[in-house]
Amino acid sequence: MKVTVVGAGAVGASCAEYIAIKDFASEVVLIDIKEGFAEGKAMDLMQTASLNGFDTRIVGVTNDYSKTAGSDVAVITSGIPRKPGMTREELIGTNANIVKSVVEQLVKYSPNVIVIVVSNPMDTMAYLVHKATKLPKNHIIGMGGALDSARFKYRLAEALNSPISDVDGMVIAAHSDSGMLPLTRLASYRGVPVTEFLSADRLNQVAEDTKVGGATLTKLLGTSAWYAPGAAVSALVQAIACDQKKLFPCSVLLEGEYGQKDVCVGVPVIIGKNGVEKIVEVKLNDAEKAKFAESTGAVREVNKALAN
Ligand code: NAI
Repeated sequence: MKVTVVGAGAVGASCAEYIAIKDFASEVVLIDIKEGFAEGKAMDLMQTASLNGFDTRIVGVTNDYSKTAGSDVAVITSGIPRKPGMTREELIGTNANIVKSVVEQLVKYSPNVIVIVVSNPMDTMAYLVHKATKLPKNHIIGMGGALDSARFKYRLAEALNSPISDVDGMVIAAHSDSGMLPLTRLASYRGVPVTEFLSADRLNQVAEDTKVGGATLTKLLGTSAWYAPGAAVSALVQAIACDQKKLFPCSVLLEGEYGQKDVCVGVPVIIGKNGVEKIVEVKLNDAEKAKFAESTGAVREVNKALAN
């Protein structure tokens, strides 16, 4: 399995590190536009190989896409991150140009690649990749829900005072502060609905803390987070590499599912060797359906900027 990671910044380097540590890929190509930057990150990471015990070869490249040829999976993290007080949507102008030029280069050298889109505003960037390439729709995966769900589980465990591995929960809809939909009704603590343990007010607080999870970290760090985003991407890459058939919420092109068409937004999907192998339609209640539709409407509004 050859994996290309575009953007050797905070998220790109973190995801390359997790992929290498898990040792399921033969090669990771880290590519960046900044002269020597990816080479430096790759060299530093390779010098952890004997310490961390992995055999994955990490290669750093400045802008030479011929080195990415034959990639099975490519992760796009290139672009600017938000600063405190910014929304993800404000990044669109700069990042749309970057993502478009990057994916054209990637597909030129790896026509059958599975693309994982990370750059924000992620749902719109995933849609842009559909429009800019002829890749089959199961080969385009937007990463947002896997991270938001990990943040939801962190907040649930905090509220329940339980280990994180004992809780389960999922966040669907747009990867934006206002658009995320943490499915509190379906969250569980060892199979028992969390509604048995937490009041409606406490659960609402968990949902709100989850929705601003990225903004909270951006305020603390002065830039957006990287460990959990990198881990979420590496989990998706591993699900493809090892054909795990794992369920993650991901931003994928909807063609009638959840009552939506011609838009990428977060829904539960099965990820395996073919990329998105199935879209899972969870029965939502009326309030959830209304929130999902509102969130998707907001993504469509952001998508309009792509026409300019
Ligand atoms: P960063 O600034 O640390 O790294 C971005 C890298 O992209 C830089 O090294 C830059 O030189 C490179 N780059 C810029 N233009 C390029 C081009 N044309 N070709 C190749 N490389 C290029 O930013 P960070 O923190 O890694 O964030 C990257 C993106 O990921 C941002 O848009 C951020 O908002 C997004 N993000 C998305 C998340 C998600 O859940 N979908 C989570 C966290 C971040």
